[in-house]
This record gives sequence, C-alpha cells and structure tokens, in this order.
Amino acid sequence: MEPFDTKHRRREPVREDPPSPVDRGPLGGHSLPEEDRFDMALRPATLDEFVGQEKLKKNLHVFMQAAKARKEPLDHCLFCAPPGLGKTTLANIIAREMGVNLKQTSGPILERVGDLAAILTNLSENDIFFIDEIHRLNHSVEEALYPALENCSLDIIIGQGPSAKTICLPLKRFTLVGATTRAGLLTGPLRDRFGIVSHLDYYEAQELAQIIERSSRLLNVPVEPDAAIEIARRSRGTPRIANRLLRRVRDFAEVQGTGRVTADITRTALSALEVDEKGLDSIDRKILTAIIEKFSGGPVGIETIAVSVSEEPETVEDVYEPYLIKAGFLARTPRGRVVTPAAYVQVGKKPPAGSKTSELF
Ligand SMILES: Nc1ncnc2c1ncn2[C@@H]1O[C@H](COP(=O)(O)OP(=O)(O)OP(=O)(O)O)[C@@H](O)[C@H]1O
Ligand SMILES: [Mg+2]
Repeated sequence: MEPFDTKHRRREPVREDPPSPVDRGPLGGHSLPEEDRFDMALRPATLDEFVGQEKLKKNLHVFMQAAKARKEPLDHCLFCAPPGLGKTTLANIIAREMGVNLKQTSGPILERVGDLAAILTNLSENDIFFIDEIHRLNHSVEEALYPALENCSLDIIIGQGPSAKTICLPLKRFTLVGATTRAGLLTGPLRDRFGIVSHLDYYEAQELAQIIERSSRLLNVPVEPDAAIEIARRSRGTPRIANRLLRRVRDFAEVQGTGRVTADITRTALSALEVDEKGLDSIDRKILTAIIEKFSGGPVGIETIAVSVSEEPETVEDVYEPYLIKAGFLARTPRGRVVTPAAYVQVGKKPPAGSKTSELF
C-alpha cells in the first residue's frame, strides 16, 4: 500500500486512509483527525465482524464468492450512505476477502487525468481501487474513467494542438469501489457503470450496542450492558458516533468514576456533552431552534439555515439533515425545509396551534 499522507505534504492522489475533507462539528458524522487511529483499530476486518446491514452483507458475500470462483475481479461497487455508516470499512473488507490490494483516493484529491493514469497503471490484477467522495470527481477525470471501467483501457492525450495524439493504455482488470454521501450528485453515466449499488441504512440501537460491546473489548473498557444500550440509543444510528461517544464516556468513567462504564456515568457524560436522549447534539438543536424562531417553522432553504447556524450548507445537508429527517424532526417540501411538531417538543417549545407545518403535509 502507498504511504500515509498528512495534511502538511502535497496532497497525494493515492493514500491509505485520507482524513475527511471537512471537520463537521462536535458530534457530526465525519471522522476527526484524532479519530483516525481509533477508526483503524476498531474497523471490522471481515464481513462476519461487520455488524448489521444484513441484506447487503449476504449479497456481497455471494458476489464475492462467485467472482473468486470465476477468478475474476468483483464487479464495480458503489456504496451510498451518510458519513460514518461503514462505506470505507466495506471497501477494506472487500479487498481483504478477495485477497487483493486496495488503493485509495478521493474525488477532490484526484485532480488530474495523469494522476488517475498513474494509479490505474500500477494496479495488479483484480485489485480494488477505492474512490471516496466519488460525487466530487472532476469532469475530465470522470470521463477518463469510463473506458477504464468498461474496457480496461485508458485514453491519454499526449501533447497539445495539432501535434497532440491519443494513446490507449491497456490496464489490468480491477474493481472500482466508490463511496458517496450524496448519491443524487453522481452523474447518470457514472452511476450506470457500477454493477453493484448499495445504500447503507442507519443502524438499529441493538446493532449499535453490539458495535459498542465489540469496541469496548478492543479498547479494554468495561461497559455494562445497559450503558451500551444507552450510548447506542443516542448515537444517531451511526457506528462512528457510537465509538466516539464510547470514548468520551470512558473519559468520564475514568475521571469521575471507577473506570467502569455504567448507565449512570453514561447519562452524566452525555448530558455534559449536550447529547440529548434522541441523540441530537447542540448543532442539531440549533438548526431546529433557528427554523422555529427565525423562520416560523419553515419552509426555508438549506443555505439560509446553514448561514443562521454558522455551518457550511454541505455539512448541514450531509451530516445533520439526513438524521433529523430520519428521526422525524425535519421534512423536505418543494418550498424548503420545515420542522415537524415533534421538533418543537424536542427543543422545549410549544407547537403553534394549526401550525403551518401540518398544512404542508
Ligand atoms: N457495520 C459496522 N460494524 C462495526 N463497526 C462499524 C460498522 N460500520 C462502521 N463501523 C465503525 O465506524 C467507523 C466509521 O466507519 P467508516 O469509516 O467505514 O464510515 P464511512 O461510511 O466511510 O464514513 P465517511 O462518509 O465519513 O467516509 C469505522 O472505523 C468502524 O470502526
Ligand atoms: Mg469513509
């Protein structure tokens, strides 16, 4: 595998485990730089260790077995899901289970066709080429990728003007694994070139509790079962957040308790972290409160919401909005976002009588 890149060096187009491009709030779904080493340690290495997403796992198992039996690369795979649900983990699991190498890059880093060519021509037969944030590939790199995906060849233009010529580089057969938090931003032609397209769902509390128990064994932290369930319930259906909360609760247990994670210490820690009983953090509540107080419950556009809570629109849309919708606090309408009556209750406000929220449904 290629060396680990750091933020201080030139951004290399291939790297083993790139930090996420944007740091997304205290409990937002994207990984924080300090978290990368924990992510590596806690990341399941096989499909058996990967908790939940049962249908996806079953199918993937069949596809991998079939490809291995035919001695072919796995078909190109696309994983779509909000941050922290396991897309990168699955890409690594596939490489391991197929017994091949994984080369990783991400849409915004892969700027030039030359970089793409350098990576693709260095792949060995059946290797995995993983592109994170694939919806952010630029147009020329995306176009160059098409023949690579279809015919295992790459057309490269050498020189400029009348003397320019196109050469066709043959490639070894490989599997592209793409990950995206925004399936809707992928172009049709790119999406159509994936033989396997999977959407990962938010996890159930029971599954997250299983993940927390596994992590607590790996981190050597004693966690009581009701504490694991309490953390799981407040992890917004997201394994990365479950692991993050576990580490924070462990700090409280070590400093204010005996080191053992109990339900009591968990509640103390989570209220200190301002994570409420539905798993909403301070930014989630800021978003709901802003829509209620400044825009009478909506409808309001995502950009306006983002400005009013001092976040990037992309962060609100990628990290916060999907869970607020899933949890039933926010809805999308053709005219913008509106809060639901449950949102008023959640932030301690009374829903207006005959609220315009209800008229919009
Ligand atoms: N199904 C799972 N079972 C156990 N642990 C998991 C599972 N899914 C994710 N995790 C844990 O959550 C962490 C985050 O997962 P991962 O990095 O794969 O998410 P992602 O979807 O790639 O997120 P992003 O969009 O931010 O890149 C992993 O390090 C792993 O420890
Ligand atoms: Mg990832």
